[in-house]
Amino acid sequence: MVAQPNAQVVRLGVLGHGVVGSAFVKLVTQQSDQILARSGVRLEVTKVCVRDAKKKHNLPKGAVLVTDSNGLVQSADVDLVVELMGGIEPALKLISESLGKHKPVVTANKALLAKHGVELFAAADAASTDLLFEAAVCGGIPLIRPLRESLRGEPISRVMGIVNGTTNFILTKMSEVGADYSVALAEAQKLGFAEADPTADVEGHDAAAKIAIIASIAFGTTVRAEDVYVEGISKLTAADITIARKFGYAVKLLGVAELDATTSMVSVRVHPALVALNNPLAAVRESFNAVLVDGESSGSLMFYGRGAGGEPTASAVLGDVIDAAINLRKGTHALLGAFKSTKLKEMSAINCEYMIGLEVADKPGVLHAVTGVFARNGVSIRAAEQDGIGEDARLVFLTHDANEAAVQNCLREFKSQDVVKHVGALLRVVANS
Ligand code: HSE
Repeated sequence: MVAQPNAQVVRLGVLGHGVVGSAFVKLVTQQSDQILARSGVRLEVTKVCVRDAKKKHNLPKGAVLVTDSNGLVQSADVDLVVELMGGIEPALKLISESLGKHKPVVTANKALLAKHGVELFAAADAASTDLLFEAAVCGGIPLIRPLRESLRGEPISRVMGIVNGTTNFILTKMSEVGADYSVALAEAQKLGFAEADPTADVEGHDAAAKIAIIASIAFGTTVRAEDVYVEGISKLTAADITIARKFGYAVKLLGVAELDATTSMVSVRVHPALVALNNPLAAVRESFNAVLVDGESSGSLMFYGRGAGGEPTASAVLGDVIDAAINLRKGTHALLGAFKSTKLKEMSAINCEYMIGLEVADKPGVLHAVTGVFARNGVSIRAAEQDGIGEDARLVFLTHDANEAAVQNCLREFKSQDVVKHVGALLRVVANS
C-alpha cells in the first residue's frame, strides 16, 4: 500500500458478496494504489454484508464480514454504500436510508431502478449526494454516464440496442448454425449464460428493465419497466431467421426508446426486430451487447462490449465509486436532473415495416385471399416470397411502412381464415441500414 500524507480516505460498505460483489472487492483492492495515485482518494473496504457468514468469503485486510445490512448503512465506519445485493427489498430501504444519511450510493440494481429509479434520483438530489448506477445497464459498457453527462446537451432521437446477452447468444446460434430455439437455449444454459428458469431473459423482461432506465436518462422522462411493451424470442424459429436473412435482415432482440418528433411522445419497447445486415447491430454476435444512440448533432454513436459478468460489471461499479468518493471529499455530487411524467406512445400507434409469415394451403386463390386482408386494412406489400409447396407452403410478406394497429387487425383476420393454417412470427423492421 502506498503511503500518501494528504490521502483522503473513503470507507466503503459493500452490500452483497456474490459474483459482482466479490469481483468488485477484489478489483478495488488490486487498484487501490493506482486510484490513490490518480485521484488522491484512498478507497478502503471496511464492511461487507452477506446473507450467510458461514460460507467462505475472501476479504481484504481490514474488511469486516457482517450480516446486518441496516447496521452497515448506519455504521460510522462506512462513508459510501455499494449496493450489489439486487432485488427490490431490502435494497430500496437501505439505499433510501443511506441517501437520507447523506451517504453516496453506487448500485448495479437494474430491477430496483427500473421500478423506483426516479424517486431514488430525487432522494439523492434532495440529499445533495450521489446515486450512481452505470453497472445497472449493460454491465461493463459505459452508457449511462455518456447519456447523462457527455450527451447532456444533445437532443436524442433514438436509443436502441442489444441489451441482453443471453438472447443474443441464442439468436446467434439460431442464425449461424440453424439451431432450433430449444437447442440454442440449452447450449446457453450449459455455458452458464441462461438461468435454469430463463424467462426473464428470453421473454424480454431483463431487456425491458434496462431500456426503461436508458429511456428515463436519455429523454428525461419517467419510464418504468412495467410501461415497456415487451415481446420475447421464445416463439421464433430458425426458419424465421433464415427467411429474414433472405430479405437482407438479421433478427435481434432490441430494446428501443424513440422520440416521435411530431407528438413529442416516446415509444419504449422490447421485441425481436429486423436489422439490416449492413447495420452495425447486425454484426453483434454471441453474448455481446451494443447500443446505438442517435443524436441531432452527434449523429449515430455505438457502445459495444460485455453486458454482464462479474468483472465487467465490477469495472463499471468501480468507476462510479471513484467518482462518488471524489465528489464526497469535494462536497459536491453529480446532477441527475429533472424527470417529466409524460404519457408514453402506445404500441398501437407506432409505424414501421413488418415481416409476416403465414403457413397456408398451397392452392389457387390463397394469395388473393391473404393479400385482400392487407388491402382492406391499408397495409401495402413491399415484397413477398413463397417457401415450400403443398401442405408445407409458407408465405412471407414484407410490408411498406404500416401502422401497428392495422397490422394487428390483419393478424386477427388471418387467424380466422380457413386457408391460413398458422400465423407465424411478426417481425418489425427497426433499422434499415
Ligand atoms: N441476464 C442478462 C443478460 C445479464 O443475459 O444480458 C444481466 O442483466
